[in-house]
Amino acid sequence: MEVLQIVTYPDKFLRQPAKAVENIDGKLQKLIKNMAATMYQAPGVGLAAIQVGSDKSLIIYDELPNDEKHCLKVLINPKIIATEGSVLSENEGCLSVPDFRADVKRAAAVLVEGVDQDGKPVRIERDDFLAVVLQHEIDHLNGTLFIDRISALKREIYKRRIRKQLKSK
Ligand code: NI
Repeated sequence: MEVLQIVTYPDKFLRQPAKAVENIDGKLQKLIKNMAATMYQAPGVGLAAIQVGSDKSLIIYDELPNDEKHCLKVLINPKIIATEGSVLSENEGCLSVPDFRADVKRAAAVLVEGVDQDGKPVRIERDDFLAVVLQHEIDHLNGTLFIDRISALKREIYKRRIRKQLKSK
């Protein structure tokens, strides 16, 4: 297993829509293993392939993030089929948006369809924290970051900070 480099804002790679996975081959399985190593090392609770430089429609997340035992879930070609309610996701963060957190308005529950790493169709319904994780990661597959979902003022504060950092390098 290999820990991959995480692509960070403002890299334009993060802005492209992911491409549907057609074959679950050895290369994809290897990518999944490396993504898991990368996510746990970070540490993070979810990761989209786009964040490690792959344009595949693929996300991983940990179903029991507060448990010592890992419970890795893989979703290929995931789509949000339905949402319900709304919730404020407090202090949301992203491995691709380092050193910044903000509250984000999210759906309280989601129904997601996709396939697992064996190619078996899955349909999952989650609420609360895992609903937020799923929305956040599936957003990545559409080129969307959580900072796109916060107020323009807060986003500007972050952008200014990043511009300053890039200049001082
Ligand atoms: Ni993220």
